[in-house]
Amino acid sequence: MLWTIFLLLNGLLILVLHYSTRKRQKNEPPLDKGLIPWLGHALEFRNDAAKFLARMKEKHGDIFTVCVAGHYVTVVLDPNSFDKVLNETTSFDFSRIRAQMVNRVFSLQLPSSNSAPERKWMENHFQGLNLQKLNSSMNIHLHNLILNNPESCCSSEWKVDGLFGLCYSLLFRAGYLTLFERDENVAAVYKEFRKFDDLLYKLARKSLNRGETEIVKLSQERLWKLLSPPYLTGGSPSNSSQQSYHHFLQEQGIDTDMQTKAQLLQLWTTQCNAGPAAFWLLGFLLTHPEAMEAVKSEIRGLSALQDTSLQRPRLNQLGPCSTPVFDSVLNETLRLTAAVMINREVMQDKLLPMADGKEYHLRKGDRVCLFPFLSPQMDPEIHQDPQMFKYDRFLNKNKTLKDEFCKDRKRLKYYIMPWGAGRNSCVGKEFAVTAIRHFVFLLLTHLDLELCNPGAELPPVNSRRYGFGMLHPEGDLLVRYRLKRT
Ligand code: HEM
Repeated sequence: MLWTIFLLLNGLLILVLHYSTRKRQKNEPPLDKGLIPWLGHALEFRNDAAKFLARMKEKHGDIFTVCVAGHYVTVVLDPNSFDKVLNETTSFDFSRIRAQMVNRVFSLQLPSSNSAPERKWMENHFQGLNLQKLNSSMNIHLHNLILNNPESCCSSEWKVDGLFGLCYSLLFRAGYLTLFERDENVAAVYKEFRKFDDLLYKLARKSLNRGETEIVKLSQERLWKLLSPPYLTGGSPSNSSQQSYHHFLQEQGIDTDMQTKAQLLQLWTTQCNAGPAAFWLLGFLLTHPEAMEAVKSEIRGLSALQDTSLQRPRLNQLGPCSTPVFDSVLNETLRLTAAVMINREVMQDKLLPMADGKEYHLRKGDRVCLFPFLSPQMDPEIHQDPQMFKYDRFLNKNKTLKDEFCKDRKRLKYYIMPWGAGRNSCVGKEFAVTAIRHFVFLLLTHLDLELCNPGAELPPVNSRRYGFGMLHPEGDLLVRYRLKRT
């Protein structure tokens, strides 16, 4: 017993010494260790990463190193320098960080750290020829869920609901029916998924309390069961994405247990962002009448929609350039509410050249983090009045999409970055944009949709979710809706 206490104290002492003796060396970025050894800035980071990193940027500039729960993280906030990190895949590696995260959150351990075959499967599946098929399936499901489902919507009475729950559930259901092609358990999957997703950021940061740990464990187990391919439990085979992914995993030699866990990761990756994005977009439109009028006017002007009947939507035929106002609104929504964090591990001591000509020495074993939410997305040098929603921020005078933004007089490649970048960027971008556009247009053309309280404002964001893709609101926005009378 005494020995154990002695060894523990020794270990603790070594940790404290290690984390309090690190000093900034020549050519290294400014170092901010925080006051508490090992923990460093972890609490502030966890509670509101955007506020904390904005404070650090104010103090140190566009590059600095902070201590967060035992890791030294160099944060790079100059978008003109992002490619120096993203393109250096040997020195700045993602595979170990990714493996740790999917193990912690999804209990998933894959035999190989090489993610290239999986990436290829995803590209084949969510892009190119397959995309058309997925888009039309998604459109049909959205159409049925919104317009042909008297339980969810009818013309004779108003329904009242939270906009976040409404958007999330409809896009999730349509997405699940499209990719998993199973309607027998969609309601149960959605219910469990929401419980899991609501606590996921705490699971990732190991900050669940005992009650929450139980909830997460139970919903994970239920989801694993619900997602088991039907033909494994006596059902018939299908051509769904789920089945194709299942075959892919089998070919990779992944055992049955890990296959089920990989399916949950796949479900989360493909379903966690579109619903929240649609919520913010509609929320901004409902609270900004001039933006709503501009989008509705664009819809009215679309020739593809002129013969719209309640039965046959033609929105899947729209190309990306046919809806510049909507595209600008979507970009502006993502600028304000998409908050991915791009983390890499430094594999060898490395000189990082920045766009301003300075070079910084990074140490092997540290991490590098890009947080595009702060810059470019909320950077006042790039986007004027960055806290404000301006529906036409991404529109040129001639109604084409504006993509010219500068920092330090240099034109930016990354002026927003909601889809990530580099090798791990979103493979479902086109599918997601088409689905959100179709969803919003369906709602605006076929439903009367209004705020319950005309003076209501959008709820604030849940500040603990920075770094986990689309932000969630703290609370909801009450709306009422009914089918338009024709
Ligand atoms: C507004 C909606 C969406 C946003 C903002 C978004 C954003 C992102 C981001 C930032 C990543 C990279 C994550 C990282 O680096 O850690 C990502 C990855 C991914 N997204 Fe999306 N996504 C959206 C919707 C979708 C949809 C609907 C699909 C379904 C097809 C999808 C499929 C994927 C996949 C499969 C990956 C993993 C790519 C890889 O690991 O190489 N996404 N997404």
